[in-house]
Amino acid sequence: MSVRDIVTVGHPVLRERARDVTIDELASAETQGFIDDLIDTMRHANGAGLAANQVGVPVRIAAIEVGDNPRYPYKPRIPLTVVVNPIIEPIDDELVEINEGCLSVPNLRGSVMRHVNVRVRYLDRDGVAYDEVKRGLTAGTFQHECDHLDGVLFLDRVTDPRTFTTWEQFERFHRAAFVERINEFVARVGS
Ligand code: NI
Repeated sequence: MSVRDIVTVGHPVLRERARDVTIDELASAETQGFIDDLIDTMRHANGAGLAANQVGVPVRIAAIEVGDNPRYPYKPRIPLTVVVNPIIEPIDDELVEINEGCLSVPNLRGSVMRHVNVRVRYLDRDGVAYDEVKRGLTAGTFQHECDHLDGVLFLDRVTDPRTFTTWEQFERFHRAAFVERINEFVARVGS
């Protein structure tokens, strides 16, 4: 297992649609080792998630995990989840404004609208199929990672560019109001 380099905005691999992974390919030692590296890299960078193309490999695999996350301390926990060939779709029209960042977009945050309730179908790293409903900030995290696999960055979904902030200015001027609002939201939807 090893920590890989994370590619940053401007690298074309972040703008490609990543390709599906076959069952045989998923079972290979190479892919399983790659998934270990993806998890290591996500944890090393304190990410809430990391998509394969963020380390330069354009396949439809992402890791998601939220524990005691210093980048996003207000996010409810998500157990380690590896999604392969995920399909995500909104269940209804409810939206929430979330202030996001991304390991591939260093030192920038911005506000995006995310679906509150989504259905996500995926294979885990063993090829087992899941069909789940995700809600709230957790749904937002899944949308962010699935976007990566389609070549979409959170930057593309920021409708008001005035919400862009560095992490330092977010802490100074915006964090308190955002965390107060999002904590009320999390309390209401439960995730
Ligand atoms: Ni990201």
